[in-house]
Amino acid sequence: MEDAVRLELERTRAEVDQALREYLAGTKGIPRRLQAAMGHSLLGGGKRLRPILALWTWQACKSHQSARSANRQRVMMAACGLEMLHTYSLIHDDLPAMDDDVLRRGRQTCHVAFDEGTAILAGDALQAQGFALLARSGRDRAAALVELVAAAVGPAGMVGGQQKDLDAEGQEVTLALIRRIHIDKTAKLLSAALASGALLAGCGRGTLNQITQAGLDLGLAFQGADDILDITATTAQLGKSVGKDQAAGKATWVALEGLENARKRTSRTGNRGIRNLAEALPQGKFTDRLLALARALWQREN
Ligand code: IPE
Ligand code: IPE
Ligand code: MG
Ligand code: MG
Ligand code: MG
Repeated sequence: MEDAVRLELERTRAEVDQALREYLAGTKGIPRRLQAAMGHSLLGGGKRLRPILALWTWQACKSHQSARSANRQRVMMAACGLEMLHTYSLIHDDLPAMDDDVLRRGRQTCHVAFDEGTAILAGDALQAQGFALLARSGRDRAAALVELVAAAVGPAGMVGGQQKDLDAEGQEVTLALIRRIHIDKTAKLLSAALASGALLAGCGRGTLNQITQAGLDLGLAFQGADDILDITATTAQLGKSVGKDQAAGKATWVALEGLENARKRTSRTGNRGIRNLAEALPQGKFTDRLLALARALWQREN
């Protein structure tokens, strides 16, 4: 990634962090321990890829749709909603009943720092807050936005994918099954981040569908990279425990076909996503910037 894009990425990440802090602090009446648990997992870590994808897709689309586009503040609100939903999925993913992890984003997982009950509730709370922000950000498009994201994280999306992920532990799996697991547990939310930005920019159904499809390939490649990093990276690099997938018998491309083939499949899938995303968007510097970020979804070190 070029230095200029990296700098932009850091700047946008800092803006997202700031907005998240404000949205969490701005809700009154949350029990102190619950608020602390939500903040523990939400603030001070995380690459913020989904919110930045939403913001940068909006920016790339809006140049052609300016009359119909939402303003940046509203897109930031939706972006923060997406990050809350993602963080909720991580808190629950780390629970002893699921992946049983003790480290996340360089700190103790929520249930270790607090307790299991509080971690479950912090996840529930972030889910509700996330949807509230999406609804507020969408105005006349709120229903479409909430429906789109709910489908991505619901029982036929992330939650369903997590069920399939658990069911597949230690089982013989096929390429087709791994694809379904990865699409549901990871790619649908990532793709919904792109689609949310496009929707708020005022894109029509055709473009939205194209962007959603491209996002699914990018999300698949993103999970491919996550599974590769689980065996090639260090705990310090990732801020989470490594080597856990093999121990738990997770269904991954690496487990099925080895590291080298998994690498090839990941980049093949990611490149297809990039090509299709480029076709869906108007040419220009904002599209170039988004494509650079999209490439970093699998070409990454953490
Ligand atoms: C990790 O997501 C969970 C997966 C879906 C693979 P990220 O790698 O985006 O985690 P953070 O948000 O940066 O912590
Ligand atoms: C997580 O996949 C997918 C989610 C929906 C959270 P992983 O279980 O591989 O994610 P990490 O490695 O714990 O971040
Ligand atoms: Mg998991
Ligand atoms: Mg996990
Ligand atoms: Mg993983």
